[in-house]
Amino acid sequence: MALARELGTRAGALLLDGLTRTRAIATKSTVTDMVTEMDRASERLIVDGIIAVRPDDGIIGEEGTDRRGTSGVQWIIDPLDGTTNYVYAHPGFAVSIAAARTDAVSGRTELVAGVVVDPVHDETFVAVRGGGATRNDVTIRCSTEADLGRALVATGFSYDPARRRHQGEVVAYLMPHIRDIRRMGAAAVDLCSVACGRVDASYEQGLEPWDYSAGVLIAAEAGARVGNLEGLGPGRDFTLAAPPALFDSLRLRLLDGGAQPLAGA
Ligand code: IPD
Ligand code: CA
Ligand code: CA
Repeated sequence: MALARELGTRAGALLLDGLTRTRAIATKSTVTDMVTEMDRASERLIVDGIIAVRPDDGIIGEEGTDRRGTSGVQWIIDPLDGTTNYVYAHPGFAVSIAAARTDAVSGRTELVAGVVVDPVHDETFVAVRGGGATRNDVTIRCSTEADLGRALVATGFSYDPARRRHQGEVVAYLMPHIRDIRRMGAAAVDLCSVACGRVDASYEQGLEPWDYSAGVLIAAEAGARVGNLEGLGPGRDFTLAAPPALFDSLRLRLLDGGAQPLAGA
């Protein structure tokens, strides 16, 4: 956690420094899926920082890092979550770093640490498994909302046009059943927003492990229930985070509205 926090803070400062002079340099999966030199520079900073201290750990990063390790610890990095906001110099982007550990005997893997740094708002969210969650070192808890009709719900959309259309239809169905929707533009921050109760819930189909890993640990450690559409563990198929008393009513509404796990995830 200490290493994740140190590297997240340094990467956040790097992003802030490049904010007003950075332009998209390429697109990835679709024309809306941008990447900047800062996505890559941030990943380099974090990966070099991990390797310098923990050379035997595995690392996956959104911008291409895929390093097998031998220690049983794997790092999962989104060096810049919210690239579209970043390109527009719009607040709402973050660095997300998680660490997972695989038990040598049981073979079970679990997230053990997560850090999300939002440098514009000077917010650092941190969680260690079993140790609670904090924002700038102050303990945070998710909301206690139990009524879906009063719930403020964050979501996000894929870069793939067909998936977006489907996600838009699900939101249209959901709207009359909730207080309102928020689309802030960084899934890791959405999950931290659930953790500190500034939204009640968040959901998204098709997030990648680097988008959700740190955030789901932070949300869970802040008291939220995190899972997929079946109520099992969150994943690429679907990630839903909500106070325990709200989780199932939102999950069932989403299913009624046609939400589906991402095919093949
Ligand atoms: C994206 C953001 C966005 C979410 C997308 C993600 P990126 O990550 O988290 O909020 O809706 O699904 O891909 O591309 O900015 O790292
Ligand atoms: Ca992301
Ligand atoms: Ca990213």
